[in-house]
Amino acid sequence: MSIDNLSERPIGIFDSGVGGLTVVAEIMKILPDENLVYFGDVGRSPYGGRSKEIITQFTRQDIRFLLEHRVKFIVAACNTASAVALDVVRKEFDIDILGVIDPGAKAAVSYTRNSRVGIIGTVATISSDSYAKSIENKDDKMKVFSLACPLFVPLVEEGYIEKDATSLIARDYLKTLIDVNIDTLVLGCTHYPLLKRVIGKVMGPAVRLVDSAEETAREAASVLAAKNLLRREGGEVVHKFYVSDVPDRFSQIAQQFLGQNINNITRVDITRY
Ligand code: DGL
Repeated sequence: MSIDNLSERPIGIFDSGVGGLTVVAEIMKILPDENLVYFGDVGRSPYGGRSKEIITQFTRQDIRFLLEHRVKFIVAACNTASAVALDVVRKEFDIDILGVIDPGAKAAVSYTRNSRVGIIGTVATISSDSYAKSIENKDDKMKVFSLACPLFVPLVEEGYIEKDATSLIARDYLKTLIDVNIDTLVLGCTHYPLLKRVIGKVMGPAVRLVDSAEETAREAASVLAAKNLLRREGGEVVHKFYVSDVPDRFSQIAQQFLGQNINNITRVDITRY
C-alpha cells in the first residue's frame, strides 16, 4: 500500500468502555478531518481492578479488533491498559500505538515548578507505577506521589459529577496529596477529566491539573503529522463505534463524555479476536 492510501485510513481508538470517549472528544477537536473507529470493551469493563495478565490479554484483543478495520494508527485511550499492558503488547504488532501515559507524564514534567507531581488513577494503573517511571525517566529530580481513587469511575458513570457525595469522597481521597505539597496533578484515568471541577476545588488553584486525554490528542496529532499520516483527501468524516455488550448504556453515558449523541454503535464479540 502506498503511503497516500495509508493516510486516508481511520485512526483506531480503544478503551475498557465508555471513558475513552474523553480522548475521542479531544481528538475530534484537534483532528476534525480524521475518520475514527472506536472500540469500547463495555462487556468486560472496568479493567482497573483486574490483574496484569487479564488486562494484557484484553488489550491484545482490542488491538486485533481495530486492525481488522484497517486503521493507520492506534490510540490506547485507557490509562489502565496503557499503564499495565502496552509495553509488552506494543512489540507484538506492526503498527504505531500511542498510550496515554507518556503524553501525560511529559506534560506534568513541563508544567511543574517545584518538581512535585501527583498521579491519580485506577488501582491497576497506580500499582504498575508506569506514570512515576515515565516522569522520573524524563527528569530524575521529580518526586512523584501516586494514589488510586477507585470510586471515581463508578461515580462518573452514575452521573455523580456535581453531587456532595463526590466532593466528600474527593476530599477524603486527595487529602494525602494536599499534605505533600504537589503543584501538578495528573488525571490518570479516562473518567477523571469529568471531575476536573471537583478535583480542582479540593486541590486548590495552586495545583495544575493535567488532562491526559487532552495531552494524548495533541501528541497523536503531532505523531501523525511527523509521519505524514494526516488525512489529506477531505470529504465526509466517518466516526464508527463498536462495543462488546448491548450498546444502550454506552449510548446513554456517551452523551456526557462526548457532548453529543452517538447513533451508529455496533455490538461485537470481542472474544473472537
Ligand atoms: N478506562 C479506565 C482507565 O482509564 C477506567 C475504567 C476502567 O477501570 O476500566 O484507567
